[in-house]
Amino acid sequence: MGRARGLAWRDGAWHIRGMIIDYDRTTKAILSLTEGETDAVALMATVVCELHHADERFDWTGFYRVTGPEMLKVGPYQGGHGCLVIPFSRGVCGAAARSGEVQIVDDVEAFPGHIACAASTRSEIVLPVWNAGGDLIAVLDIDSDRPAAFGRDDAVGLAEILRLVFGRLAD
Ligand code: SME
Repeated sequence: MGRARGLAWRDGAWHIRGMIIDYDRTTKAILSLTEGETDAVALMATVVCELHHADERFDWTGFYRVTGPEMLKVGPYQGGHGCLVIPFSRGVCGAAARSGEVQIVDDVEAFPGHIACAASTRSEIVLPVWNAGGDLIAVLDIDSDRPAAFGRDDAVGLAEILRLVFGRLAD
């Protein structure tokens, strides 16, 4: 949901051209859709669907779940094929999981160890996801085919959604 500027055909569906996410509206929609749900994968699937279709900058939107020591495996996503396994030692996702800090990469080619799932990716944002106990359960990865697509507003808006949705999950 956001500002409409005409329609564009992409990924087999019509999208609103130039649409930039309205974080307040999208947060409310996600909270309403996920009310009472406690299954992490069901929550992740709903969050990526709502985010991916809310913003034209988002080409790949998905979660990598913490499935073992220092290990991420792909979770629900929208977009082209995503690689299945990412160790904490690799990529932008690994950096977010290791540091527990949001990673905003304006130019993926300048990021050492970036994992290219799609050659079209130019920039990305990755945020850590914690449950109620403060355990890292996943990272949220959003990729764009535009350089420097992401900024502080995205980090703040996305972090709030993740806190509200996953911060209530028990261990
Ligand atoms: N770009 C990520 C890898 C995941 S995909 O792009 C879907 C990274 O370097 O962590």
